Amino acid sequence: MEINIRRPRRNRKSEAIRSIVRENEVRLNDLLFPLFLIDGTNKKIAVESMPGIYRLSLDLMLKEIEYCMKLGIIAFDIFPAVEDHLKDKTASKSYDQNFFYLKALKEIKKQFPEACIMTDVAMDPYSSDGHDGLVEDGKIINDKTLDILGKMAVAQAATGIDIIGPSDMMDGRVGYIRKALDENGFTDVSIMSYTAKYASGFYNPFRDALDSAPKFGDKKTYQMDPANAREALIEATLDEQEGADFLMIKPALSYLDVIQQIKKQTNLPVAAYNVSGEYAMVKAAAEKKWLDGNRVMNEILLSIKRAGADIILTYFAKEFAEQKK
Ligand code: PBG
Repeated sequence: MEINIRRPRRNRKSEAIRSIVRENEVRLNDLLFPLFLIDGTNKKIAVESMPGIYRLSLDLMLKEIEYCMKLGIIAFDIFPAVEDHLKDKTASKSYDQNFFYLKALKEIKKQFPEACIMTDVAMDPYSSDGHDGLVEDGKIINDKTLDILGKMAVAQAATGIDIIGPSDMMDGRVGYIRKALDENGFTDVSIMSYTAKYASGFYNPFRDALDSAPKFGDKKTYQMDPANAREALIEATLDEQEGADFLMIKPALSYLDVIQQIKKQTNLPVAAYNVSGEYAMVKAAAEKKWLDGNRVMNEILLSIKRAGADIILTYFAKEFAEQKK
């Protein structure tokens, strides 16, 4: 029997050999851990569709961040859950310095100046319409939204946070926010743009967590059509021109090809958001013992790195770090 002299299995014969030839690795410093903040004290409310994830009041969030930092997680993305009666058409709480979210961010940065804190810029958690932009006559009005996003970004920057994350998908918002930040003296605050954010079915558990689902319609006039990849490259070019410091693709798993293509096009760091629904699928299957949750988590994070992401936003961050202990 003839067999090719090349036998790829030689490079897999032991863990030692496999580890020498291993091409990719997920480092703790690659991970950004999303956290959900609620008003009050000593509050910890489970997100039902995301086992292991909680909405935390500031006091408990400070403890959570401290614990994660000890494990080696250094970056966090903090989202506010806003009570319904505080929401309005113009998301006015989002730039009210007395609002609990902005006050909490200030405290978090004060206690953990060495941590990297990212915040989210979009109207949906604060909007009575549950949309990322301003709604007039059932339509999302792009340019009037920019004004609100600019105020929101400046208010967040004033708390001392490190990275602003515009997740709204309005046209021109990266440039608008960059200009607003610079004019207000926040030239050091970075922008991680949600560059290719798709109109996805994978966000539902997140919307449960923040109670932020759209009150009518869907987000398809601003978030991207899952059928399109080339359009993501247009978004990437624009965000880069407008001054983004990082480009993000979201969700991650159904869009690994988009991660790979954007990585080829840009020299900026590329991030991918391993979103709530992607987390929920693994947790649900693991609870039923249909999958080995830990093994699948590692495989998923690795696949996102392999596709080209430098940074992964993931609800698995803490669990990933705990297994490394
Ligand atoms: C808000 C926002 C969303 C997510 C991050 N920022 C939801 C949405 O756009 O509807 C989703 C995150 C996740 O599913 O984990 N604009």
